[in-house]
Amino acid sequence: MTQGFDAGRVLRAGAGLPGFLTRVFDALADDVRAAMRNDPAARNPLEVVLAYPGVHALWAHRVSHGLWKAGLVTLPRVLSHAARFLTGIEIHPGATIGRGVFIDHGMGVVIGETATVGDGCLLYQGVVLGGTSLEKKKRHPDLDPDVVVGAGAIVLGPIRVGRGSRVGAGSVVIKDVPPQSTVVGIPARLVAQNGKSLRSPLDHANLPDPLVQTLQAIEERLATLESRATPAEAPVPLRTVRRARVSRRADRGTR
Ligand SMILES: CC(C)(COP(=O)(O)OP(=O)(O)OC[C@H]1O[C@@H](n2cnc3c(N)ncnc32)[C@H](O)[C@@H]1OP(=O)(O)O)[C@@H](O)C(=O)NCCC(=O)NCCS
Repeated sequence: MTQGFDAGRVLRAGAGLPGFLTRVFDALADDVRAAMRNDPAARNPLEVVLAYPGVHALWAHRVSHGLWKAGLVTLPRVLSHAARFLTGIEIHPGATIGRGVFIDHGMGVVIGETATVGDGCLLYQGVVLGGTSLEKKKRHPDLDPDVVVGAGAIVLGPIRVGRGSRVGAGSVVIKDVPPQSTVVGIPARLVAQNGKSLRSPLDHANLPDPLVQTLQAIEERLATLESRATPAEAPVPLRTVRRARVSRRADRGTR
């Protein structure tokens, strides 16, 4: 049986079009607002629309992600590849990116297939949200809303970075980060939480090394004693001791 022309379906689709276009426009406008909010160098929305690779990469991703969710594979990958060529930012079409996200500068950013980036996150150039497994399973990080990831930071594996947390530039994060925290270093360690520094005498995770402290104290005392010594008591420089040994050996040889 041939299927007849369904005028009702076409009309319903047509009626839904303005709503769809409004939602798309809102999402694109959110991306521009995020750039204006997070980049003091952004002068006006037109500049952002025309000259911000981070915004272009997100727009291309929103299209490729839609195609990916519709079940296509190769076309979204090609689109993502083209966006990478144009912007230097590689976002796998499978990655889920929230609204109001901003990728500043962007060159070298890599976002893996199973990563999620929450609303309002801010990523700088060189950030990698990478996987640690070769298996086809959840293997990339989740960034909760309003996370900031500094330039060149690498977040690895299926870990979670809590809401509002900050990852220092150049850090390598390999375990969960609690909300409202700051982590820095390789591997990244917690240095602040809820606006308070964790570098206190009671910060048991970062206790000072007693051996290094003792050696430093001995070195300081030696320097003080040497500075107080009279010329006769002053320590003989090592070079003089060696020269004396060499000349004694030479004397024994001539006798
Ligand atoms: C992590 C960051 C958000 C912390 O900012 P903050 O809350 O002002 O923290 P502070 O500057 O007080 O630093 C806290 C401690 O972490 C250390 N620290 C800060 N950033 C660090 C980093 N990227 N790597 C290693 N240590 C770092 C500081 O030396 C300080 O250590 P101390 O307590 O022993 O003195 C910020 O330093 C950062 O890296 N931002 C990324 C910005 C960026 O990438 N900009 C790119 C623009 S193009």
